[in-house]
Amino acid sequence: MTRILVLQGPNLDLLGTRQPQLYGTETLAEIHASLAEHARRLGVEIDFFQSNHEGALIDRLHARDFDAAIVNAAAYTHTSVALRDALLAIALPFVEVHLTDPWTREPFRHVNFLHDIAVETFAGRGSHGYHLALESLARRFGATDA
Ligand code: DQA
Repeated sequence: MTRILVLQGPNLDLLGTRQPQLYGTETLAEIHASLAEHARRLGVEIDFFQSNHEGALIDRLHARDFDAAIVNAAAYTHTSVALRDALLAIALPFVEVHLTDPWTREPFRHVNFLHDIAVETFAGRGSHGYHLALESLARRFGATDA
């Protein structure tokens, strides 16, 4: 069974109450519950990891116990050469997701260390972006009803 890791960066643990006008009112637990249900329907295995610490995110990637990842690196998207290097080092496909569209926000969010190495990006689609990413990866790995 295809194994997907959903990697969530800093401050995403506060979804639901964090700037709801930008990020919506769904909590991370609610988003993950709905993704788990979607993954069950697609017949793929899914695991979730959120951290506010760059090194913890990198250590989770190094475990390399998955076939592909869905990555919302949050602010580390715009700052972390280390996270980019980790994704290159493990050499597994990942889809980049952002709830908002960073390219329409402040100029510092236009800097992106992950975009050119992601197989695909969904930005500005809210939590639906994670579902699009999951479907895309399931398709890529040959799940029949994706
Ligand atoms: C984000 C966009 C980033 O610019 C920001 O730092 C986040 C969340 C998003 O999902 O829209 O924390 O990745």
